Amino acid sequence: MLTVTAPATSANLGSGFDVFGVAFDRPLDVVRVERAPETTIEVSGVGSQYIPTDPAKNTAGVVAQELGTPARIVIDKGVRPSSGLGSSAASAAAAAVALSELYDTDHTREDLVWVAAEGEAAVSGSAHADNVAPAIMGGFTVVREDGVESVDAKVPLVACLPETVVSTREARGVLPSTVDLSTMTETVGNAATLTIGMHRNDPELIGQGMAESTVTPARAALIDGYERAVEAATAAGATGVTVSGAGPALLAVTHQGDQRAVAGAMVDAFESIDIDARTFSTMIGSGATVH
Ligand code: HSE
Repeated sequence: MLTVTAPATSANLGSGFDVFGVAFDRPLDVVRVERAPETTIEVSGVGSQYIPTDPAKNTAGVVAQELGTPARIVIDKGVRPSSGLGSSAASAAAAAVALSELYDTDHTREDLVWVAAEGEAAVSGSAHADNVAPAIMGGFTVVREDGVESVDAKVPLVACLPETVVSTREARGVLPSTVDLSTMTETVGNAATLTIGMHRNDPELIGQGMAESTVTPARAALIDGYERAVEAATAAGATGVTVSGAGPALLAVTHQGDQRAVAGAMVDAFESIDIDARTFSTMIGSGATVH
């Protein structure tokens, strides 16, 4: 069977709501495919009991339908569903790259971002390409209505996933529908600062540019222990901390050498209020990889 891996991702990075994304180097979803008369889905791994195997309801199945590439699709989940770490995007991204390779379609990686986003839309109800873009293209990505840009960056990250459930639907439901002009100006300034930071591999600029005062506070209120974890991570050396995607995971940016301290500080902060948490220390990584 043809095997493709695709990584966990973090969307938004604070100031880039529905626009920015980064690929991790782990955890990963592993998707294996072989040609078949009709599409079937098998799922194992972390949280697999929550993943539908009906191809019409599974992101990878919808991708196969969109591409016209029926296949036996075997998914080994490494990215926990409903985590804020792009779980459904990882499966959709790996499936899109795998099926395109299997049937030798002439889609570019950018084409496959929009195919995988359709897979996400069919399953979650809303198409956000800000997780599938880094899962397919790797690095730091910027998604617009009609295009996607990516750039490699070498920056240490710590993702912290508390044992808390926040649905994307709930996390979008708490957002205001408008922002005022001064807030917009502040957010654009921060997003631009973050983008320069990615080009310079500068964790200080990236951390400053993650600041955002509309989406992040609304969602932080859904995550018990959020403020405590941010304070602890910052004291341990994080240059910026925000909600990863729709949450409940948090994303911290650090200098090289500070990841272990930042990860430990966040776990301790959650454990101090009896919430288990696990962390992933990673660099900004590559996108989907054919093995
Ligand atoms: N940008 C999306 C959000 C990512 O924050 O709601 C999660 O789908």
